[in-house]
Amino acid sequence: MTLDLKKIRNDFPILGRQLRPGVRLTYLDSTATAQKPLQVIEAMDEFYRKFNANIHRGVHTLAEESTALYEGARERIAKFINASSARQVIYTRNTTEAINLVAYSWARANLKQGDLVILTEMEHHSNLVPWHMLQAERGIELEFIPVTQDGLLDLDAYKTLLERQPKLVSFTHMSNVLGTINPAAEIVHLAHQAGSIALVDGAQSAPHLKVDMQALDADFYAFSAHKMCGPTGIGVLYGKTTLLETMPPFLGGGDMIREVKLRSFRANSLPHKFEAGTPAIAEAIGFGAAVDYLTSLGMDNIAAHEHEISEYAMERLEEIPGLKLFGPSADKKGGVASFILDGVHPHDVAQILDQDGIAVRAGHHCAQPLHEKFQIPATSRASFYLYNTKEEVDLLVKGIYKVKEMFG
Ligand code: ALA
Repeated sequence: MTLDLKKIRNDFPILGRQLRPGVRLTYLDSTATAQKPLQVIEAMDEFYRKFNANIHRGVHTLAEESTALYEGARERIAKFINASSARQVIYTRNTTEAINLVAYSWARANLKQGDLVILTEMEHHSNLVPWHMLQAERGIELEFIPVTQDGLLDLDAYKTLLERQPKLVSFTHMSNVLGTINPAAEIVHLAHQAGSIALVDGAQSAPHLKVDMQALDADFYAFSAHKMCGPTGIGVLYGKTTLLETMPPFLGGGDMIREVKLRSFRANSLPHKFEAGTPAIAEAIGFGAAVDYLTSLGMDNIAAHEHEISEYAMERLEEIPGLKLFGPSADKKGGVASFILDGVHPHDVAQILDQDGIAVRAGHHCAQPLHEKFQIPATSRASFYLYNTKEEVDLLVKGIYKVKEMFG
């Protein structure tokens, strides 16, 4: 089914915004954060108007209702990723916190000096720095699956690294810079064959692809609501029950306990063991509304639409003299176009596009080592989501020609 773009765009009030007189917004920065449909905005608004109360703590009507909404959202998020149980869905602040939860809880309980963790050269800082910190503290070893010049992971090099019997392989499902969609199930399977567990950073895949925890078989999968039409401040760590049950708690405090004595505590059961303190309740409910919204459109339809836009964008951008695109061909990537333009700094590109209301990101996109690999300090990045159109790609291309004219 093709998406009804006119109807979809009406769901997103911000997309109709005039930034300045005569300048309409063209939003091409959904990889940084996606826009929010009315269905999400209204679910959160309704929560504060009608149901606001703390969860798991009261017997009064509001407390019961807010708990049911919060837990109901968890059930729907679990279904969205085809987890076998909602107990495997731990609410966190975002993908970064989900990865840190694994680094602080699982890794500090299981890794010792000399143990190997395999990452890749295309990781976001959120899947690098927690492991750098653990390396400094514990003396673990880090190795990296290399990225080829056309932006793919070198799987032969990965297989050689696996001979060193890593304890953990942690990698991004989809690169936020190159757009590369990695063969995640294969990478996980190879990790398991080598006796390692696998963590998948799903920040960029959960919004754009149908993900299925049973098929992927990852031990951990981390993702954020805000990149998938939901609010900021909430994400999820999915984990295999056997691992989550044996892991020590991450943060201590209210709600994560079964019993507390002056000198000891007993941890709560899953998923509450990892959710200390009053959580982001309205945000969880907004997240539930976001997965309902994506489900109503169909993840396969969303992926097909993005593929069409992305293919068109690559074709049009490649025609521009002096423009160099990074990453693989459109069939191997999601809707991300990172590029440099001869003789123009990526920040200048973004600033001039902004004059015409075109929002793209410029910089290293929290992936500095990947930019170093390609020997560039920064790129400009346009990214596409379910609400973007070919007309917006045309505006981007027109804007880039204007940048070229200004810089002679
Ligand atoms: N990780 C987000 C991005 O790539 C913030 O822009």
